Amino acid sequence: MNKYFKRTALIIAFTMLNVTSHAAETENRALVVCYSRDGHTKMVAEKLAEKFNADIEILIDKKNRTGALGNMNAGNDALMHKTTTIEPLQHNPADYDIILIGTPAWFSNMTPAVRTFITQTDLTGKTVGYFATCHRVGADKAAAQMAELVSKGSSDPKTHLPLNHKDIESRLDEKLTEFYVNILSSANSGPHPALNKGE
Ligand SMILES: Cc1cc2nc3c(=O)[nH]c(=O)nc-3n(C[C@H](O)[C@H](O)[C@H](O)COP(=O)(O)O)c2cc1C
Repeated sequence: MNKYFKRTALIIAFTMLNVTSHAAETENRALVVCYSRDGHTKMVAEKLAEKFNADIEILIDKKNRTGALGNMNAGNDALMHKTTTIEPLQHNPADYDIILIGTPAWFSNMTPAVRTFITQTDLTGKTVGYFATCHRVGADKAAAQMAELVSKGSSDPKTHLPLNHKDIESRLDEKLTEFYVNILSSANSGPHPALNKGE
């Protein structure tokens, strides 16, 4: 009898522990937002969405970014810090506590679609993380550029996740886990004065 009582008590305790820790993890609602032309950034976004139990918003640039001309304009628009027109969002960023923004690096700059999203969105008080992909170099600059646009330099570099294709092939899981820990610790360490451009 005593044995059964102990086993039941243990099962109840474990169940409660699981429920409590799951609630702590899901307390912060997260949205992963990214633009991706060729799929690398989207693949990272999907993995992050899985890790953070987040919703995902893929930005659609209305401007054609393919072909020789599209490619040339893409690089030029990014270099010139141009915005673009994007399709309406499927999710409302205001409903989320954590927003993770991702971009490919185009000549080490964020893409116009991501610049448009940041410029149009009020991220005040949110925990914001930045991820960027590049072939070889420039993702760090693109991530820092997004952070600068959102928070005017007050972002913690630990909330940046720059990845080149070698990182994606060889150590993505490790990098994603490190980013996950840093973002959650950032989210739990008080209010974040994420400011929009012009504020
Ligand atoms: C217009 C343009 C400019 C690029 N500039 C860079 C660059 O400066 N450095 C780099 O390593 N890769 C550069 N790339 C490669 C992309 O950053 C890289 O392939 C990225 O992972 C693509 O992301 P996506 O697959 O999500 O579109 C550039 C690609 C394009 C189309």
